[in-house]
Amino acid sequence: MESAPTVSSQTRVAAVVGDPVGHSLSPQIHNGWFSRLGLDWVYVALPVSGAGDRIVDSMRALSLAGLNVTMPHKEVVARTADRLTGSSQILGVANTLYWHGDEILATSTDGDGFVASLRADAGRDPSGLSFVVLGAGGAARGIVEALGRAGARSIVVVNRTAERAESAAGLAPVATVGDLEAAREADVIVNTTPVGMGDSNRSPLPEGLIGAAHLVVDIVYNPRLTPLLRQAEAAGASTLGGIGMLIRQAALSFELWTELAVPPGDVFPDGPGWALS
Ligand code: ATR
Repeated sequence: MESAPTVSSQTRVAAVVGDPVGHSLSPQIHNGWFSRLGLDWVYVALPVSGAGDRIVDSMRALSLAGLNVTMPHKEVVARTADRLTGSSQILGVANTLYWHGDEILATSTDGDGFVASLRADAGRDPSGLSFVVLGAGGAARGIVEALGRAGARSIVVVNRTAERAESAAGLAPVATVGDLEAAREADVIVNTTPVGMGDSNRSPLPEGLIGAAHLVVDIVYNPRLTPLLRQAEAAGASTLGGIGMLIRQAALSFELWTELAVPPGDVFPDGPGWALS
């Protein structure tokens, strides 16, 4: 049994800010790691709907140790941070604010979290592989940019709104825009759309495009087994759900804040279980 953290006047505070944050799994993830490493840190969820342009100043004024930033503030914090690092310099959005001396830096860990999950949870290095990415929103943009940096051979972006597909494809030299048929030829199919979330029985891919050689990744993590992943399993394909990306992007934020590696082991000891090796 882990003991409840004792909050004191020395406790460092990290948080997720955005709207909504009420169902965020980040407090559970980060507090579990703080507790296992014996760090006097606490992580809370702060609902922030307006005044996004004051988030960076608030972090400074309140001496908050680190922030995760979610909708609708990912762009404004990238504009107002002292400096952008990593993929944020290209994407113009950030999900993590962290200290470097007196500066507050902003970066985005989503894309690198996806690539880390691909490597560690599916055992596939993106280098030399061909990808089809379904969707062209914020998550897709981070993934396309990170896959390009990680040496993907090709990336085809498929999206119902063509302009957004073009824009996402502009984030990696090897990326182009295409249609769902491109999935047949790809090594890896990645769903970044919300199709299949919750109780939906819909898959973003029509039947018949997935074969046994595919790796199919769904970044949706609720439910764990999405309609797309069920379809992939039925076709004999390999599958990867979105919980790994969620945890690995969190781990990258954690490491920027604490300069410590996250501990291995169960991330949700009271839940359905998910262990980091
Ligand atoms: P996120 O930040 O999670 O990526 P987002 O920026 O809202 O969320 O992007 C969602 C993506 O899923 C978009 O590419 C969206 O398509 P459009 O660009 O055409 O809006 C896509 N998407 C959302 N609902 C969809 C649906 N029912 N069918 C197909 N694509 C969908």
